[in-house]
Amino acid sequence: MSKKPFYITTPIYYPSGNPHIGHCYTTVACDSIARYRRMQGYDVKFLTGTDEHGLKIEQKAKEKGVTPKAYVDEIVQIFQSLWKTMHISYDQYIRTTDDYHIETVQHIFRTLYDKGYIYKGEYTGKYCTPCESFWTPSQLDENGCCPECHRPVTEAKEEAYFMKMSPFADRIEKLLLETDYLQPKTRAVELVNNFIKPGLEDLCVSRTSFTWGIPVTFDEKHVVYVWIDALSNYISALGYQNHAFHDFEKFWPADVHMVAKDIMRFHAIIWPAMLMALDLPLPKHLAVHGWITFNGQKMSKSMGNVVDPFLLSERYGADAIRYHILREMALGADSSFSNEIMINRINSDLANGLGNLVSRTVAMVDKYFGGTLPTERQPGAFDDELQAAALGLKEKLESLLDNTQLNLMLAEIFQVVSRANKYIDETAPWILARDDANRIRLATVLYNLLETIRMVSVPLSAFMPETMPKIWAQIGASEADVQYETLTQFGKLPADVTVQKGEILFPRIDVDKEIDELNQLILASAPKETPEAPAYTPEPLAEEIAIDTFGQVDLRVAKVIACEKVKKSKKLLKLQLDDGMGGRQVVSGIAPWYQPEELIGKKIMLVANLKPAKLCGVESCGMICAADMPDGTVRVIFPDTELPVGAKIR
Ligand code: MSP
Repeated sequence: MSKKPFYITTPIYYPSGNPHIGHCYTTVACDSIARYRRMQGYDVKFLTGTDEHGLKIEQKAKEKGVTPKAYVDEIVQIFQSLWKTMHISYDQYIRTTDDYHIETVQHIFRTLYDKGYIYKGEYTGKYCTPCESFWTPSQLDENGCCPECHRPVTEAKEEAYFMKMSPFADRIEKLLLETDYLQPKTRAVELVNNFIKPGLEDLCVSRTSFTWGIPVTFDEKHVVYVWIDALSNYISALGYQNHAFHDFEKFWPADVHMVAKDIMRFHAIIWPAMLMALDLPLPKHLAVHGWITFNGQKMSKSMGNVVDPFLLSERYGADAIRYHILREMALGADSSFSNEIMINRINSDLANGLGNLVSRTVAMVDKYFGGTLPTERQPGAFDDELQAAALGLKEKLESLLDNTQLNLMLAEIFQVVSRANKYIDETAPWILARDDANRIRLATVLYNLLETIRMVSVPLSAFMPETMPKIWAQIGASEADVQYETLTQFGKLPADVTVQKGEILFPRIDVDKEIDELNQLILASAPKETPEAPAYTPEPLAEEIAIDTFGQVDLRVAKVIACEKVKKSKKLLKLQLDDGMGGRQVVSGIAPWYQPEELIGKKIMLVANLKPAKLCGVESCGMICAADMPDGTVRVIFPDTELPVGAKIR
């Protein structure tokens, strides 16, 4: 019987800067789904790639003095090497500069024109260059800026082609409100109210003010609007209207397009309209997730050094990073990133939870039975409960997967891990081992543990593909023992299984030491001031003074590079500051009013020539200015963000 096809896609990324951990989320999530579906026996096609045209790329290449193609070629390599590092098992990597994609886009544009959906007109309106998006005045934010990224928009007026959107409005509204196309559904109402109810406006689909794009075949001074170009990737990759591939019949419509919320509109309105205009079936699901935020903001390139996925996976392993970001993000909501939360999670779930379960179990089989279990069994208390937990996993996971709730899948799996660790405490194998009469019961307990490890490791291999084969080697599981179908069977490992002690899977991380080291790395790699900012030489530091001699106080602007709570203190935060003079550490009694993450990236006012002091044993070189609120709380003073670090405050 031929396998059922399953087609899943990530967005195609702009190669306009290095990828960051925010980019990793969608790709890791799609990879985990693709791996899970392959395990279930689907014929999976997993597509990712890069969206390489547009004004932004043209401008960046010009700044660097290279051609746009040379510019993107370099960054695409970095993306591809990141996906290798993160064990992304894509089946195809599409680049919108690939010939076959260009062929498809040109064909689509021509077809829509021939069908009368595209017509020529004049565009006057607002354009956001970073987002490559046109906006009508009513869509701008309260400051008249781009409603997505809140940066200034420019006035644009030019001859352009437009795509009629109104013929599709009713069908799109039904798609969003009456089907389960959009996950989570809550976002559908918001889209309908904001974009469809006020009247779906025709979309400007060509540009003449730059050239780095796909030319319109019948009017060569126009290039195709980047979103028409980009969205078409999902079908050009299958060979729709090109000669390179022949998978369209097999894989279209897509099973899942996964995107973050900022590009939901394009996938929920424009993409369905394009497909309707082409008389093509619509994708089955659009899974929309929130952002990985840092300091409450969407993570962006400028913060890349704080959470560089290459650096993190080198330090903790790609699987730990994959686990952390997937576990933290609930579909639809944002998830706030912090190094401290990540390290604590690695320690608690991976080192203490899963890693410990495997190493304790294997060590006990080794110690009490020389590595090979005897075949006799003696069931006992707690066995049924453990088995039921392991056997119950498959059904729960499948239903969560259908709703793209990957964080909850991991939560379910780790509940079984916890159950198994509890089973060790309940059955106390080390006590059983004291009396030879308990030998068979002891073997049964250890076998049950090995089986539970096997049963959690099979679904986990979709999420942590590097670690699970290591576990299988340790617990003596063969390839046949870890097939997906075996999840219905408790007792698949051979009765006389032989274990193999191996390396520690997730070494425990010393949180304080690690955070300190990360802070050092961050400080060392922090962008000093943006190269475009005017050069600024801070004045020499004033002579050391006592705090009451106010006139002599040397106040400076500084930027918070890292921040954490001081252990054993409810009041103190420890901040690493870039002060334009090599960096320093300050301790401040503001913990009751600020979370460390809220302060990272912010500029503050620093009393820079205060005599160093120790607070709770931690050295503080300066003081942060704050003011009292009438209600007794305290607020830090945040100066104008444009002030350079090191600036003297007079
Ligand atoms: N090129 C378009 C997509 C075209 S798809 C036909 C684009 N590229 S992007 O590189 O800017 O973003 C790609 C995806 O990464 C988007 O879904 C975007 O929201 C996501 N993310 C970028 N930063 C992110 C976070 N900080 N957190 C989670 N996802 C983030 O948009």
